[in-house]
Amino acid sequence: MNVTLELNGETREVEVTPWKRLLDVLREDLRLTGTKEGCGEGECGACTVILDGEAVNSCLVAIGQCHGRQLTTVEGLAHGEVLHAVQRALVACGGAQCGICTPGIAMCASHVVDRGLLAGADDVTARAKVRELLAGNICRCTGYQLIVDAIIVAAREVTR
Ligand code: FES
Ligand code: FES
Repeated sequence: MNVTLELNGETREVEVTPWKRLLDVLREDLRLTGTKEGCGEGECGACTVILDGEAVNSCLVAIGQCHGRQLTTVEGLAHGEVLHAVQRALVACGGAQCGICTPGIAMCASHVVDRGLLAGADDVTARAKVRELLAGNICRCTGYQLIVDAIIVAAREVTR
């Protein structure tokens, strides 16, 4: 099957079996290895990408479902040399963690920030909401405090 999609702002076409996982097509066929595999069964969020404006686990999506759709991966988060507000805040706050969990966290956080999901929330409510919205992104090693800090900083920057 020929699948055409808008990937990180460019039209890309790939010939694959329609049931191949989007995660594998990205990594193997399109050589975009920023999207990681953790659990492979929809539990960890490491493989998060943005499909038509929604954060999805690419390990659970078949490429055949992506024809004609808009997809952003972690490679498309920055605009040229300019990092996304979430990427800048993760670095500044010390919220960038390992190479497996961080790309998925950055993608899910960018979705939260870009969609204005924290708009109008006071600090306590915003923090609770971030924890809820990122509940599907798991780190097996450490805490989430600095990640939450970073997302709050990014959300404030974007709404300023
Ligand atoms: S690898 Fe997709 S959710 Fe864990
Ligand atoms: S899984 Fe990445 S730092 Fe824990």
